[in-house]
Amino acid sequence: MLKFKPKLRVLFLAAKSRYIWLGLLISVFFIILITTMSNRGLVDYTSHAHISSIPQKSFHNVDAEALFAKLLTPPAASINPSVKILCYILLSRSKVRTAMLIKETWGSHCDKLLFFGGYEYPELPVTFINATEGYENLWGKAKAALLYLLKNPYFKEYQYFLKADDDTFVIVENLREFIHNSSLSLDKPVWFGFKLKHKRMQQGYMSGGAGYVFNYAALTRVGTFLSKSSQQVYNAIGDCNVDSEYGVEDLELGKCFLHAGVKSINTTDENGGERFLPLSYDVLLNGAISSFHWIWGQAWNRVRTGERCCSVNLISMHEISPNQLKLLYHLLYKLKINR
Ligand SMILES: *[C@@H]1O[C@H](CO)[C@@H](O)[C@H](O)[C@H]1NC(C)=O
Ligand SMILES: *[C@@H]1O[C@H](CO)[C@@H](O)[C@H](O)[C@H]1NC(C)=O
Ligand SMILES: *[C@@H]1O[C@H](CO)[C@@H](O)[C@H](O)[C@H]1NC(C)=O
Repeated sequence: MLKFKPKLRVLFLAAKSRYIWLGLLISVFFIILITTMSNRGLVDYTSHAHISSIPQKSFHNVDAEALFAKLLTPPAASINPSVKILCYILLSRSKVRTAMLIKETWGSHCDKLLFFGGYEYPELPVTFINATEGYENLWGKAKAALLYLLKNPYFKEYQYFLKADDDTFVIVENLREFIHNSSLSLDKPVWFGFKLKHKRMQQGYMSGGAGYVFNYAALTRVGTFLSKSSQQVYNAIGDCNVDSEYGVEDLELGKCFLHAGVKSINTTDENGGERFLPLSYDVLLNGAISSFHWIWGQAWNRVRTGERCCSVNLISMHEISPNQLKLLYHLLYKLKINR
C-alpha cells in the first residue's frame, strides 16, 4: 500500500493538470467564439468563404490557426443566407386588436416584429412615435420609424426590413426564399415590393399596402438624408421630403430612396405572376376590379387577373380583414390535407 502511494499521487497530479489544460483550452475556445460572434454585427457570410476553401490536411500537420478557423466556420445552413428579417408595422390607435392578431400569426415568423404607434397600448409592446395621426400624415410616422431603426445599433443584426400595414398578410418563408434565390449583395442598397408608376420617378416606387422590403444598406443611405435639413437635401438632390410629416408614406419614401441611389428589383416570377399583391388575393383571382380602379393606371407591370395573376411563390397580400387574416393563417399553416 505505502509503496504505491507516491505513484498514485503523481498519477493524480498528472490527471489534475491534464484537466486544467483541457479547461484552459475550452475557455480560450469559448472566449474566441463569443468575441467573434459579438463582433459580427452585419453578417457578411461571403467573407467566410475563404475559410472553407482551406485545403484538407492530415491531422498532424494542420496548424492551430487553420484548425480554429475551421471550428469557427458557420454551418452550411447559415452560409446559404438564412437572412434575418425585421418586420415593422405602423399602427393607428384603432388597430390594436389587429396588431395582436398579426403578432400571433404571420408576424411571429419574422426574426423581429416591431409596432410603431402614437399611443401607449397596454396589451402590446409598441415603440412610441410622436407624429400626427392620419393617412395623409403617415410619412411623418414612417420617417420616425426609419430613424428609430437607424439610431439603434442593435438593428444592425438584421439584413432586411419589411414594412407592412395592419391589413397586409405576409408569407415570411417565401420572402426568405425569394431573397435567397435572388442572391442579392448586402452592400448594394435595394428595395422591392409591388411596383407603381410615377411620372417624376423613373424607377417607380413600391406600394405601401403590399408591404415593401429594403436592406440595411438602403436604410443607412436614406438615413443620411433624413437627418439633414430640407434645404441641404433639396440643394443636393431634389424632393426627398425631410422636414414635413405630410405625405403618403410609400410615395415619399420612393422619392427619398430614388435620390439616395437605392435601386428597386424585379419581383415578378418567371411566369409573370406578382409576388406582392397591392389588393386582396380574392379580388385579383376573381378579376372583380372596377375599370376605374387606381391599379390600372398605376401598376408598373400589366395587371393580370384570374389564375395567372399571382405567383405560386406569393409573398404578400393587401386588404386582408382581421377575420380573413385568421382564416388565411389557419389554411396556410395549420390545415392538413392528405394528398
Ligand atoms: C409631441 O410633439 C409635440 C410637438 O413637438 C409636443 O408638443 C408634445 O409634447 C409631444 N408629445 C409627447 C408625448 O412627447
Ligand atoms: C427558388 O428557386 C427554386 C429553384 O429554382 C424554386 O424551386 C423556388 O420556387 C424558388 N423560390 C421562390 C420563392 O422563388
Ligand atoms: C422579372 O423576373 C422574372 C423572373 O426572373 C422574369 O421572367 C421577368 O422577365 C423579369 N421582368 C423584368 C421586367 O425584368
